[in-house]
This record gives sequence, C-alpha cells and structure tokens, in this order.
Amino acid sequence: MRKLVGLVLLSVLSFTMIYAQSGQVEIFSWWTGGGEEEALLATIEDFNELYPNIEVINATVAGGAGTNAKAVLKTRTLGGNPPDTFQVHAGWELTDTYVIPGLMEPLTDYLKSWGVYDKFPKGLIDIVSYQGEVYSIPLTIHRSNVIFYNKKLFNEIGLTKEPETWMEFIDALEKAKAAGYTPLALGDKNKWEAGQIAENLMVAEFGAVNYNALFNGELSFNDKRLDSALEKMVQLMNYVNVDHAALEWQDAARLLYEDKAVFNLMGDWAEGYYKTLGWTPGEDFGWFELPGTQAVFVLVSDTFGLPKNAPHRQNALIFLEYLASTRAQSLFNPIKGSIPARIDADPGDDPYLIETAEDFRTLIISPSIVHGSAAPEAFVTSFNDAINNLVTTKNVNQAKQMILWAADDVNLLTD
Ligand code: GAL
Repeated sequence: MRKLVGLVLLSVLSFTMIYAQSGQVEIFSWWTGGGEEEALLATIEDFNELYPNIEVINATVAGGAGTNAKAVLKTRTLGGNPPDTFQVHAGWELTDTYVIPGLMEPLTDYLKSWGVYDKFPKGLIDIVSYQGEVYSIPLTIHRSNVIFYNKKLFNEIGLTKEPETWMEFIDALEKAKAAGYTPLALGDKNKWEAGQIAENLMVAEFGAVNYNALFNGELSFNDKRLDSALEKMVQLMNYVNVDHAALEWQDAARLLYEDKAVFNLMGDWAEGYYKTLGWTPGEDFGWFELPGTQAVFVLVSDTFGLPKNAPHRQNALIFLEYLASTRAQSLFNPIKGSIPARIDADPGDDPYLIETAEDFRTLIISPSIVHGSAAPEAFVTSFNDAINNLVTTKNVNQAKQMILWAADDVNLLTD
C-alpha cells in the first residue's frame, strides 16, 4: 500500500513538473530538406508529448551541410542573440568556432547529473570537449564514405557485384555510361558536395591512419598521395551529370530514385532521404564504401550545445536532456539515416543501419573535413574552394597548391 501511495505521489509530482515547464525553446539547424526535416519534426513532436507547454521554435536555414545556416548562426551568436541551442558538428567546428571564443557553456556536470556521461563513445566525447569540459550533446553518427546505388539499374547494366577496387568502380561507371545513364549523380551547387568526394578520395589514397596524421600535424600535405586523390577526382568528373553545379545534394540523390543515375557518393543522410521518398534499403537501393575506404568510417556527427546567454536557458537544458535520452536518439536517427550517438540506443532494424552500427564499433574513424570535424573552418572553406576550382579547371597542381596554402594558414604541415 505504501508503495502504491509512493508511486501515485511520484506520478503526480512528475506530471506537475512536466506541466510546470512552459515558455519557449528555439532550436536552430539546417534540417529543412527530405529526410532531415522529417527526423527533426518527429522529434519535436515527441518532445511536445513530454512537454506540451514548451513551445518549440524550429529555426531553420536551408542549405545542406549548413551552407547558409552557419553564417547566420555565427552572426547571431557573436551579436549576443543566440538561439537556445543549435546544431554544430563535433570537432573543430564546435571548439574552434564557438568554444574557444568563449561563446558556449560547459555541459559536463549536466551530462553527469542526467546519468549519460558514460553513454557516448569516449572518442566522441573527446572531440566535443575542450580543456576537460564537454560542450555539446552528440545526437547523430553519420558515415560519409558511402556510395548508394539504384539496384534496378545496377542489375540492368549487367553488374553482379559491388565494386571493391578503384578499377572495378571505374568499370561500373563505364557500364552505366554506355547504357545511357548518369553514372555518378552529383549536386555540388554548395561546393561541399564535391569537397566530400575529394576528402573520401584522400582517405582512400592515404589510408585512415595517414589521413588522420595530416590533421594531427604529423604528416605533411605535400605528399604524392594528395596528387593521386586529386587526379582521381578529375577522373570521376567524366561520369557526373552535366548540370551538377546547379543541383543540391537532394536533387542529385533523387536522380537515382528517378532511374536516371546509378551511383551517388553521399553521406548517409541520403539513406534517410531515400526512405522518406519511399525506397526500401537493400531492396530498392544498395550501398558500399568508396573502394579503398572499406576499413574506415568517415565520421560526421551532429551535436547540440548551449550558448551563453541562451534566452530560454532552462528550457534549452530540458531539450538537451531530452536529446541525450535513448528515446530521442532512437527516434531521430533511423529517420535521418544515422545511428544514435548513444551506445545503448537502438539503431533501428533497417539493414543499412545495422551494418553501419557494427562498422562504427569496429572500424578506424576518420573525421570529415567538409563537415567540420577534422580542421578549422578557414581550412574547410579553402579546401572546398580548391576542389571546386579543380572540378572546373581540372588543374591538379593548382588545386594542390591551394590546399597547401590552406593547410599552412592553419598551421598544418606542408613541407
Ligand atoms: C551534414 C550534417 C548532416 C546532414 C548533411 C546534409 O553537415 O551533419 O546531418 O544534414 O549535412 O545537410
């Protein structure tokens, strides 16, 4: 009986606490497109089931990979007008752009009091930390060295096995071309999409350990393997759709769905997008790693932090605690095409996600350049410029020189 009274009191108390929460919370992200938006909206809806009196202001600025959002966010944050919480990539984008300039609040004590500090992979906690304090809550683990393909066209052009080597990949692209399809869908209107292909080619040429060493300041960028990666990038341009510079990543991904293109090298937010278009993973589309990167997990992780002077700080903390829960992580990620950052959250039951969760546990992790983890923002911008210059001019030496200057500017090794 006493137990029952206790239970009833506890429920009344938590009910009162939940309903006592009110006001607003502004969440800032660039998740406006297919797959991304669905995941975000489902999560906001779920949050509102738990906290019906907190009004979520869903502040988004369109443009994949934060093309436009990042500038808006920086202006707002520096101008003392931050949202309550915002999407930011783990690694340099978080620490260099926001933490070191003193714009963020540490979250370590909150993570501990919510009982989740040890629920994230240690390596991930390390890259969202600065001087021993954690500064953001990891939500997603995306993989960006994946090639998705249209299974129907793949079979139609006579392919029987997924390419494992560069030669096999080129051969498959040739077959697609001969059959009149766009071999490799690309939409690099926002530059990062081409940069992402190039960084994956670098991972393939250098291998994970050496690629990581470039960014740890242990290996010089002035290396023949950089030339080879850039040469392969030029080679791939023979296989992309002619209107690539006018398209965004969803437009390019859609070319597969429309049976116009066979392959798409994209982060696995494309997996989320294909699912929201109605495709079934493993049936309508397949996937394999860019040849040469099979042993590597190129990591892109979206996290959410607490800026100083958040207008609704208390509600921001409630939202962040929610994002750190297995409930939120298991809801958001399968829709988004990512696996949960929390090790104890359910990755869902689709074959892509199950395979990815296993790969994340077992492979070497390399941070993405263009998604802000490997290097400071200044490098990312110049890297994307160099690759876009390469795509237009096909001038490998010039692109290499631009990358060397960019590396030198942020004190990475160049000789
Ligand atoms: C990445 C982000 C992903 C996805 C992608 C395309 O930078 O980490 O969550 O949104 O951009 O917009």
